[in-house]
Amino acid sequence: MKLMETNTKTIDQAFARDVHEGLSSSNKFLSSRYFYNATGDKLFQDIMNMPEYYLTNCEFEIFNQQKADILKQVYYGQKFNLVELGAGDGYKTKILLEHFLRNEVEFEYFPIDISADVLKELKADLHKKWPDLSVQTLNYEYFTALDKLNNLNQAPKLILFLGGNIGNFLPDVAQSFYKKLWGTMRPGDFVLSGIDLKKDPQVILHAYNDPAGITRNFNLNLLSRINQELGGNFNLNNFMHYPIYNPETGEARSYLISTKAQEIYIASLNKSYSFNPWEAIHMEISKKYGLAEIAELAEKTGFTLEKNFSDSKAYFVDSLWKKI
Ligand code: AVJ
Repeated sequence: MKLMETNTKTIDQAFARDVHEGLSSSNKFLSSRYFYNATGDKLFQDIMNMPEYYLTNCEFEIFNQQKADILKQVYYGQKFNLVELGAGDGYKTKILLEHFLRNEVEFEYFPIDISADVLKELKADLHKKWPDLSVQTLNYEYFTALDKLNNLNQAPKLILFLGGNIGNFLPDVAQSFYKKLWGTMRPGDFVLSGIDLKKDPQVILHAYNDPAGITRNFNLNLLSRINQELGGNFNLNNFMHYPIYNPETGEARSYLISTKAQEIYIASLNKSYSFNPWEAIHMEISKKYGLAEIAELAEKTGFTLEKNFSDSKAYFVDSLWKKI
């Protein structure tokens, strides 16, 4: 087994650049991809354990109930690469890993994540559980990692993109993402995406507005991260967490709102950013899809939709697409 490949420096530079871009824009924004430092990872774990955050339980149910069918759809007896974009702690993936191992499926697991911490823990954890499972972690941006993997070996791929992560992309970004992904795949390869569905708007809003304030802290943690890593001076008490859900577009959005006029200085950028009273920073989008929209997205990006695996409440789907 290889040592973890890592590329921390480029990621840090991108962080500084992206923070500057977002805070100097006329509509301020920060990217939710930077939520996941060690504290953010921990807070996201807490979110997944909240009763309001239904997404994780739905996908867990889908995998538990339908793992045999999922395997049947993707495995023809030929060794393959199980690739995961944004692997996290692998909580749901372990259901598939266990099922595959139990059925003596031949595969290697390639978790990809921009968090080096997460990958280190995941690898140690998997090694303890299943010492014979081949795990190669890739600490890169998704497409850099996929390029590396394509140079490493030519086996067919099943790419996992779970948890509703696709929701973090604006619709046109989601489209270019899948087109680009299609370009890294060979005919016969699959992608399985966890996609959160449109449903009762209250259910959705509650998932992003928990009374314990965990989601609030999850958002505020990005300001702390800017303070810690870039020498910012955000006072977290001067920002309010404000999530909204638009049932027409399916977009849940989170904002941090400056409750007063203030000036923020970021030392490593040597720049100040001024906030008007009640000015918003857009932090995250978590888009919910309709089934027709999913079919359209697959078609527009060159894929064939093979099967949607859904939970009993029809809150969430894992949608299996193939490059023909
Ligand atoms: C991990 C991106 C799927 O958008 O639902 C959870 C992140 N944000 N609560 C989501 C998140 C607020 C989550 N994803």
